[in-house]
Amino acid sequence: MTRLAPGVIISGTGSYAPSRIVTNDEISAQLDTTDEWIRSRTGIKERRIAGDDESTSFMGAEAAKSAMDSAGVSASDIDLIIVATLSPDMLFPSTASLIQTQLGLRKITSFDLSAACSGFIYALEVVSNMMRSDAYQHALIIGSEKISSILDWEDRSTCVLFGDGAGAVVLSKTDDTSAGIIDSYTGNDGAKPELLCLPGGGSACPPTIDSLAQRKHFLKMNGREIFRIAVRWMEQSAVIMLERHGLKPEDISLIIPHQANLRIIHALARSIKIPKEKLFVNVERYGNTSAASIPIALHEARQKGCIQSGDYVLLVAFGAGLTWGSTLIKWH
Ligand code: UT7
Repeated sequence: MTRLAPGVIISGTGSYAPSRIVTNDEISAQLDTTDEWIRSRTGIKERRIAGDDESTSFMGAEAAKSAMDSAGVSASDIDLIIVATLSPDMLFPSTASLIQTQLGLRKITSFDLSAACSGFIYALEVVSNMMRSDAYQHALIIGSEKISSILDWEDRSTCVLFGDGAGAVVLSKTDDTSAGIIDSYTGNDGAKPELLCLPGGGSACPPTIDSLAQRKHFLKMNGREIFRIAVRWMEQSAVIMLERHGLKPEDISLIIPHQANLRIIHALARSIKIPKEKLFVNVERYGNTSAASIPIALHEARQKGCIQSGDYVLLVAFGAGLTWGSTLIKWH
C-alpha cells in the first residue's frame, strides 16, 4: 500500500480496437452456447478480435499514439514506458521494448508489468512513484491484450468472456498539486494461482507434445470462484480508498471498474451503495480485455464527456494472481 504525492496527472488518453467484431451469435454458431446465456451471465454482446497483423505491441503502440495526441506530446517527450499485459508478443524481450521501437524511441526506460487484469492499476502506482524522482517528465502506461491468442476456443466457459484491444495514458508531472493521481492501493494473494492462469509455456511447463495435447497453453479459469472473490476485493479496494481520504460514495463522480462481467460491476455498485449511473460500463462491446479494460474505458469516458475538471474518479480492478487494487484521481 502506498500513498502517492500529487503532482502527476493523466494528461492524455487513447485506445485501439481491432476492426473485427465477433458477436455472441457468431460464437454460438461454432460452440454449444447462446447469445442469451452470454448476455444474461456477463452482459457481453460482442468483442473485438485482433487479426494476424495486430499483435499486442502493434495495438499498444497505436493506443499510445492516440494518447500522445490527446496529451499534446510527441514520442520524443516520453522518457518511460510501462506495458501491462498477460498476452505479450513474446516472453522476452518485453512488449514495452517492442513498442518503444515502434514509436521510434531509443535509450529510454521501458518494461512490462505482470499483474493480469489489475496491471493498469499496478502500473499507475509504479509510474507515479517513479515520477516523483526527477528523472521522468512524461510516461506512457499501456494496457494491451491479444487474449484471443491464449483462449481455448473449444472451452465455452472462458472463450466467450474475453476480447482484444489496447488502452493507454500519458502521465505528466505538474507543479499543480491540487489535482492528479491522489493515491493507489494494490494487493495480491498468490495462494491459489490455479483459479486463473496460463499453465503452459513458462519454465514450469515448457511446450511439449503432451502439454499441447492437454491444452495447457490456453487460459484456465474457475469462473464461479473468481466471481465470488472478485466482488469481495473490488468492494474492499473501493472502500479502502474512500476511507483513506474521508470520502463518501456520493463524493465520487465516476467509478471505472475493470470490465469483466456486468454482474460483478453491479454487485460492486450495490455493495458500496453507489448508483449504477456513476459506473462507466462498456463490457457489452469489448468483453474482458484484461489490462486494457480500464484504460479503454477511461478514454471512452473522457470522449463521452463523463469526466470534468475537479471530479473524483475511482478506478477499481481485480485479476489473476489474485491481484486487486484501486486508484483515486482528482481530474485536473
Ligand atoms: O478479469 C477477471 C477474471 N474473470 C472474471 O472476472 C470472471 C468471473 N466469473 C464469471 O464472470 C462467471 O462465473 C462466469 C460468467 C464465468 C460464469 O457464470 P456463472 O453464473 O458463475 O456460471 P457457472 O460457472 O456457475 O456455470 C453455470 C452453467 C454450467 O452448467 P451446469 O454445470 O450448471 O450444467 C456451465 O457448464 O453454465 C454452463 N456454461 C455455459 N452454458 C452456455 C458455462 N459457460 C457456458 C456458456 N454457454 N458459454
